[in-house]
Amino acid sequence: MLNIALPKGRLGEKVYELFEKAGYDCPSIKEKNRKLIFENKEKGISFFWVKPSDVSIYVERSAADIGVAGKDILLEYKPDVYELFDLGVGKCNMAVAAKKEFRDNGMRVLKVATKFTNIASDYYAGLGRDIDIIKLNGSIELAPILGLSDVIVDIVETGKTLKENNLEVKDIILPISARLIANKASFNFKREKIEKLISAIKGQVENSD
Ligand code: PRP
Repeated sequence: MLNIALPKGRLGEKVYELFEKAGYDCPSIKEKNRKLIFENKEKGISFFWVKPSDVSIYVERSAADIGVAGKDILLEYKPDVYELFDLGVGKCNMAVAAKKEFRDNGMRVLKVATKFTNIASDYYAGLGRDIDIIKLNGSIELAPILGLSDVIVDIVETGKTLKENNLEVKDIILPISARLIANKASFNFKREKIEKLISAIKGQVENSD
């Protein structure tokens, strides 16, 4: 069996569609129930949904052979996995945002609220800018509104959350998208199976371009 960890939520549904179109379908996944693992014995695959930020943990520790994780998670946590290729879905930007009127005069330590402390630290280190990192776990946009931080480093997809809260993008750090990742040992032991799956999915990704 090839065990596949998919990110729960909107992105995961899009990704499952790619697998399905590539011939790696698992009809039981569409049943409304509370099952956590879905198998297609004939195809030799099993899927399970996990929190997006947990996918790389399952893959790194061999609980899953392959998985789908955002580039943001791979850069932030640097899991010891193979990044196989860009699925071209879940496209968004990692960006610095702040209140529209905010101007960084560079004179004092910049307060940065984020879930992505490593990405933010690396970015500001590259600019030689001293920062005070405030680690939050969600609703990051509240921080500059309430004066908890000067700026945020967060994911911007449509820009709607920023706009509706009078915030704006000040800098784009890097583009993000979903990547197919593999456990290193699985990639060696199940190479043929994984490569077959990669080429089927690549075909779908190229078709949808
Ligand atoms: C993400 C991100 C932004 C929002 C951006 O939050 O942290 O808040 O999506 O999307 P938009 O540009 O399309 O408005 P998520 O929904 O993952 O929840 P979170 O607040 O827990 O981070």
